Amino acid sequence: MSRTIPVKAEHDYEIVIGCQWRDELISVLSNYRRAVVVVSESMGQRVSFPVAHELEIQIVNIPDGEDGKSAENLEKLWKAFGDFGLTRSDVVVAIGGGATTDIAGFAAATWLRGISWIAIPTTLAGMVDAAIGGKTGMNSEFGKNLIGAFHSPHRVLIDLSWLDTLSDRDFSAGMAEVIKCGFISDAEILNSIEGKNLLSLRSDRGLTEELIGRAAMIKADVVVEDFRESFAREVLNYGHTMGHAIELHSNYSLRHGEAVSIGMVFIAELAHLKGLLSTENVERHRKILSDLGLPVSYPQSAFPELLPLLFRDKKTRGRMLRFIAISDGGEVVRLESVAESEILAAYERVGS
Ligand SMILES: NC(=O)c1ccc[n+]([C@@H]2O[C@H](COP(=O)([O-])OP(=O)(O)OC[C@H]3O[C@@H](n4cnc5c(N)ncnc54)[C@H](O)[C@@H]3O)[C@@H](O)[C@H]2O)c1
Repeated sequence: MSRTIPVKAEHDYEIVIGCQWRDELISVLSNYRRAVVVVSESMGQRVSFPVAHELEIQIVNIPDGEDGKSAENLEKLWKAFGDFGLTRSDVVVAIGGGATTDIAGFAAATWLRGISWIAIPTTLAGMVDAAIGGKTGMNSEFGKNLIGAFHSPHRVLIDLSWLDTLSDRDFSAGMAEVIKCGFISDAEILNSIEGKNLLSLRSDRGLTEELIGRAAMIKADVVVEDFRESFAREVLNYGHTMGHAIELHSNYSLRHGEAVSIGMVFIAELAHLKGLLSTENVERHRKILSDLGLPVSYPQSAFPELLPLLFRDKKTRGRMLRFIAISDGGEVVRLESVAESEILAAYERVGS
């Protein structure tokens, strides 16, 4: 049985969790005459479905992962849309990880100033984060995701069977965002995964679906409140300020979720130094994350290079560094104007 989460953004849409993507897609496509299906290369051979005679479909493959999020691939998509004669009343379908849904969503955002698109995320990170919330974009010489648009999908179809082939590493990376939701908003997420390891969690489809639903609900709620990312949406940034710096410093050899995992331990340590979080709760961060195979430390020697990268974070306001932290009571707190000495002290507890 699938369940739906309604999202109110620039238009209302639904996230359908636990569905069979083919069945849902066929039913959604009955509202359209033409569809371009953008699929990442490795998912390509898994994408076939019967379509009604009246529906014209074009399938376009793009490279997997970050390679697909380039200007070159955006142009490839525009060309496919143009050659196919995609009009305002047609639709784009994106099937793949977060990188694929980001670029396909951006292509849909820019074609005819925005046409409908449907997201079918195939990674855990895509299901709980990238495909929800309406942020679309691409990478460029200026940085990752700096070019983009807010353009919500018209439906998000989450079919857990995609996860069967996902690597442990990518599953864990997606779990980092789920755990983040647990810390900022839903203690039940943490209670239900505490004591589990990656194997026991992956083999529990019911729990995985429950966790995806809870995390997607949190993101959807925040998006409803704050579509264009001013204050409320900042809570989703828990662990991300240091996480983004580490991700960049690692030259993207770390997955986003892995860097965020280290970033969450860092912010927990900072909150501890500020008297907000007990040692037990800091250790709880470490244990839950490492039990699921996520990294919780980063080289100590990297600190001098990480500091300037912290200031490059998109959420930083001028020279003011601020962090989203939590307290023992589960309250989300904004830490403003944190001194460099405090950042160093917290980092020393994360540094290896
Ligand atoms: N728009 C947003 O709000 C938002 C939020 C978070 C992340 N993102 C973006 O999402 C991207 C990261 O997403 P991701 O973690 O899904 O990474 P990804 O799209 O790069 O996919 C990771 C890897 O998993 C493979 N893969 C995908 N589905 C698979 C499956 N079912 N089985 C086996 N392998 C599979 C891909 O080929 C790729 O190699 C980044 O580009 C990030 O910027 C966007």
